[in-house]
Amino acid sequence: MLSHRFKSQLDEQLKELSLNGLYKSEHALLGAQSSHITTHQHECLINLCANNYLGLANDPDVIAEAHNALNTFGYGMASVRFICGTQTIHQQLENQISHFLEMEDTILYSSCFDANTGLFETLLSKNDVIISDSLNHASIIDGIRLSKATCLRYKNNDMNALEQCLEQAISHQDATILIVTDGVFSMDGTIANLAAICDLAEHYGALVMVDDSHAVGILGANGKGSVEHCHVMGHVDIISGTLGKALGGASGGYISASSSIVKWLRQRSRPYLFSNSLAPMIAATSLSILKRLQNQSERRNQLRKNAQLFRSQMTALGFDLIAGEHPIIPIMVHDAQLAQKMAAALFEEGILVVSFSYPVVPIGQARIRTQMSATLSQNDLDKATKAFHKVAQQLNML
Ligand SMILES: Cc1ncc(COP(=O)(O)O)c(C=O)c1O
Repeated sequence: MLSHRFKSQLDEQLKELSLNGLYKSEHALLGAQSSHITTHQHECLINLCANNYLGLANDPDVIAEAHNALNTFGYGMASVRFICGTQTIHQQLENQISHFLEMEDTILYSSCFDANTGLFETLLSKNDVIISDSLNHASIIDGIRLSKATCLRYKNNDMNALEQCLEQAISHQDATILIVTDGVFSMDGTIANLAAICDLAEHYGALVMVDDSHAVGILGANGKGSVEHCHVMGHVDIISGTLGKALGGASGGYISASSSIVKWLRQRSRPYLFSNSLAPMIAATSLSILKRLQNQSERRNQLRKNAQLFRSQMTALGFDLIAGEHPIIPIMVHDAQLAQKMAAALFEEGILVVSFSYPVVPIGQARIRTQMSATLSQNDLDKATKAFHKVAQQLNML
């Protein structure tokens, strides 16, 4: 049973979070994920914080596909992949992802978090070196912690700092050197300088791994992600990604790489070996989403237009944005409590946004991270900018 001392310690920590504006609470949605959602407090909120970039999470065709898949393939696998948890659709989805990303092979996981935590310790040993961007996602950080390889970190997207790490890494004899970066940094919406990273990797004989969770489906001429956007297809050795954002928003992750890497992961990667297969409905529906993805340029263009419009409207009003072109659009507030107040006031105005503060972002860099969706209308964005303006004036921010 929880001892009195331990309970008081936890309660004290929770109280401190609340006092510092760092306590995270949840709004329960009464229906499906969408650009317009309903909660107990609000009948219709404009949703500016989902990863539902293409609006596929509640798309009627996607839902119909999922119903069909449920009828054909059942609800769950009740098994890991290698026991009796592999259906044809799992293999077809792996092939389709490989084909789409132009990689040799792919392995599915229950999430991209699992994919990233199952990668490094499986592939690398204590003689090897991982060079990781300082803004990489938590799952990469945790994955690296699990491995015995030496880890060097470089300042976000700073190619001189990366080169210094590479210089240091080559002094490790016979080491495999792996540069690891998010394709899009999820708190900033900025894109990794993959062209320079791949050039440096080639020069120093390093491998490159990109987590493209926030880019596959939306960036690049064909939606193939930051790797396509930066014109480095064929130069990246390992790509991890999620099925839980643009590609329908359910769940699931993957790693695409050479067939030797993927074969080894199937033998040794712990989250793959010891966790249930992706639900059949998600595998089958993701497969059909991916097959149609190349023809979704209309949605991708609409998403791009929405991001441009919102960025220009907010900049014109005097807000401090992190510049970029991605649908992740952070509005910098800096102060954690103020950011939390702003999100709460926007909620009252019918806009759902979330404030992010330490430890998710560095101290002093609290922000409201907005995310665009192709299914937001111009009217939605006008309403949202007006609400931001009103709330910022009330809080003496503008
Ligand atoms: C860059 C990045 N990698 C990995 C993940 C984890 O993805 P999943 O939800 O599939 O575990 C996320 C999700 O927040 C992410 O932003």
